[in-house]
Amino acid sequence: MSLIGSKIAESSEIKNLVNQLTKAVQDINQNIEGPRDVDPSLEKNNKDLVDDVCNSRGRPLFYPYIGTGAGRGPYVELHDGSVKLDLINGIGIHIFGHSHPELMAATIQGALSDIIVQGNLQPNDEYLKLTRRLAEIASRNSRLKHAWLTTSGSMANENALKMARQKNSPARKVIAMKAAFAGRTTMMAEITDNPAFKQGLPDYDEVLRIPFYDRNDPQSIEKSVALFKEHVEKNKNDICAFIFEPMQGEGGYNVAPREFFIPLFEICRENNIAIWADEVQTFCRTGEFFAFETLGIGEYIDLCTVAKTLQNGATLFTEEYNPQPGLIAGTFSGSSPTLNAGLKVLDILENEGYLGPEGKIAKIHNEFIAMLNRLNETSCKGLLQDAGGMGLMVAVTPLDGTKEKMLELLKVLYKNGLMTFGCGRGPFRLRFLLPAIMSTEDIKIAEKIIEKSVLEMA
Ligand SMILES: Cc1ncc(COP(=O)(O)O)c(C=O)c1O
Repeated sequence: MSLIGSKIAESSEIKNLVNQLTKAVQDINQNIEGPRDVDPSLEKNNKDLVDDVCNSRGRPLFYPYIGTGAGRGPYVELHDGSVKLDLINGIGIHIFGHSHPELMAATIQGALSDIIVQGNLQPNDEYLKLTRRLAEIASRNSRLKHAWLTTSGSMANENALKMARQKNSPARKVIAMKAAFAGRTTMMAEITDNPAFKQGLPDYDEVLRIPFYDRNDPQSIEKSVALFKEHVEKNKNDICAFIFEPMQGEGGYNVAPREFFIPLFEICRENNIAIWADEVQTFCRTGEFFAFETLGIGEYIDLCTVAKTLQNGATLFTEEYNPQPGLIAGTFSGSSPTLNAGLKVLDILENEGYLGPEGKIAKIHNEFIAMLNRLNETSCKGLLQDAGGMGLMVAVTPLDGTKEKMLELLKVLYKNGLMTFGCGRGPFRLRFLLPAIMSTEDIKIAEKIIEKSVLEMA
């Protein structure tokens, strides 16, 4: 029997309509050519819109940014008439920039499903395909076997924590890194090492810390390992998991070599401590799907959490950590459009030459870092230090590395047409979540804006 659902999915008439719709939007977006200044005649209207958003949500916006819904590649149009070069991409959501045609078509196709949001009791094809694909890519270079969908990175992390606690019950505590960021739920705020993100919240005394790798300290590995051992000794059978970001995000875009992680993992294995890679930010960005692949540490991973680029969240886990019925559930597992778009993101990355040491991501990384270093050695001498990171995650320490100067520079860059964000806790760094579709020409445009902005402040 031929199913009616297959007729919808395979109808050439529907496919043509979806393509026509996408093409009509692309044709209009072609008019976005590159950065554009604010139009003075739109400033008042934009200010009203921004005030409206701030009033409704009760909190100011960091930038006076309201998008019009139009964008092309790394460029996005705002209601003040300006077009920005967007190098932050919703803090990592839009890996292919704005209005990517294949993603737009996948999103529209997803929206033709009979339901808008899918749940765990009644999954549709998109849920099936995305979980299957995640389990498949995760299992290539690790023991991870299953994928459980959520709608945020924080919730993916909460589920990972519950799996670790249940399997290693009654162990309660987790070991996390200094300067870690894990999300915004109560427990993820506890794991996050930033007092500004938890003012007024109680301390639950469930998190122990070790320092992340410090490339300026030759004893860095020994120090972290010694402290880790001390925590394990002092909290016998009360540590359920070790959570780490393979490359630290909010904490300053700090990178560590494989040798830093291995001795920590060995202690975990000896003591029944789950090894949990928080890849919410690194997923799809480091030149492989997972940073644990880029670092060659996959065999150790018990739990891995992803979100952002996936357009959904997910907890990946080994058979051993598969929880008992009842532990994880939740009404929402993702909208039909975002589930279909997440699947498309993975397909494009794998099939269109983005991954691997010679892939497009590696090329963008090298060109962007070279550009920052060139500026630091020439016109912006010493004002853009320590450019580094992995893949599409790049940071640099601007000016004197203080919070004030970094924040001011962000505003100057924004005025000059480039939007990005900060990270780190001292030095305070300029952070870029580069779109994977960035061309050499776009990097030249970024170079000009960064140079102009740094010199304006120097
Ligand atoms: C490493 C890491 N973990 C967890 C989260 C939380 O994800 P979400 O904001 O989707 O809840 C983030 C978000 O920035 C993150 O960078």
